[in-house]
Amino acid sequence: MIRPPAKLGLLGGGQLGRYFVMAAHELGYDVIVLDPDPDSVAGMIADEHLIASYEDEDALMHLAGSCQVVTTEFENVPSSSLAKLEAHLPVRPGARIVEICQDRLLEKSFFSMQGLPHGPFAVMRSEEDILAADPGLFPGILKISRLGYDGKGQAVVRDREAALDAFRYFGGALCILERMLHLDCEVSMILARDQTGNCVTYPLVENRHREGILDFSVVPSAVSAELEDEIRRMALGIAERLNYVGLLAIEFFIVAGKICLNELAPRPHNSGHFSLDACITSQFEQQVRAICGLPLGNAELLSDAAMFNLLGDLWVKGGEVVEPDWSKLLSVEGLKLHLYGKKKARSGRKMGHFTLLGKERRELCEAGRRFRNDLL
Ligand SMILES: Nc1ncnc2c1ncn2[C@@H]1O[C@H](COP(=O)(O)OP(=O)(O)O)[C@@H](O)[C@H]1O
Ligand SMILES: [Mg+2]
Repeated sequence: MIRPPAKLGLLGGGQLGRYFVMAAHELGYDVIVLDPDPDSVAGMIADEHLIASYEDEDALMHLAGSCQVVTTEFENVPSSSLAKLEAHLPVRPGARIVEICQDRLLEKSFFSMQGLPHGPFAVMRSEEDILAADPGLFPGILKISRLGYDGKGQAVVRDREAALDAFRYFGGALCILERMLHLDCEVSMILARDQTGNCVTYPLVENRHREGILDFSVVPSAVSAELEDEIRRMALGIAERLNYVGLLAIEFFIVAGKICLNELAPRPHNSGHFSLDACITSQFEQQVRAICGLPLGNAELLSDAAMFNLLGDLWVKGGEVVEPDWSKLLSVEGLKLHLYGKKKARSGRKMGHFTLLGKERRELCEAGRRFRNDLL
């Protein structure tokens, strides 16, 4: 067990990292954040912020020499850096797992090898592959295999011609082509697992996306208890097969009533933000507990909840950046506003969120939409 006041190392310094730092502080730990961005919102509240590249030898060795354990809030940290750290201290989750999660091809191949359900896809290495692609994959989505997020590095492709255009636009990077699925809904399951195999799962979350970015999430989801159980068993099986230690989020599509895996995130997840206000143990505290070998916390839902993202677009008015007026939101009973302290608002950038707590999921979704529209 890694006991406070030990130092924990964190790779990545966005809002997920900021909440990790807060959770670690609540339990008496110190955190060193490595993030090249001097304005990192986790770095600015950490005990130490290493402003250096994720590959910087000195920074990595400083983490290895000062911390008891290292974790990540960002799956695009070079896995070679995690492997270097692994030679000196526990890295949770480990380099190999992060390597799988940061590469769509490795991830989908892992699903296939494990006999887990996923949608039809094929790897596209060249224009020839696109010309020869199975016609059943159109209309589809072409995704770069590495470094995409929030819908970036993805293009909806009606036909082969459009796929060729998109492939060229992505500079010929290795891609996967997925068939566009008709989704009943999207859900995610968040779980924490420690090094002895203890596991805690959160209730299934239902997610709505807009232009590839999470728009809002609601718990409990509308899927049946049987389907949720099946998803939970699958999620636990995946964590076990990976011998996962840390916090894991798994995105699923429900297609014609059946489960279809979308992707894994080896870190806290935007759709788990409800846990900050609707559970005794947030996903971030659970991450701290799992990587330190503390007993995992209670993850039951204390109340129905709906979480709405606040993107930078709300800040941009007539070409100027203006902080929205929060007074109306702040006066709503049962609403909790979270702002991440990012210095620059940009279109599509996650700047904050709010969570509505209450009795009934449908009412919460309608009210949340109204409150957010009022900010426009
Ligand atoms: N094969 C697909 N069929 C239908 N919708 C999809 C498909 N792949 C992705 N999407 C939509 O795009 C969103 C983002 O895609 P995802 O692969 O999860 O990438 P990201 O890494 O950006 O989250 C998904 O949550 C879903 O709404
Ligand atoms: Mg996703």
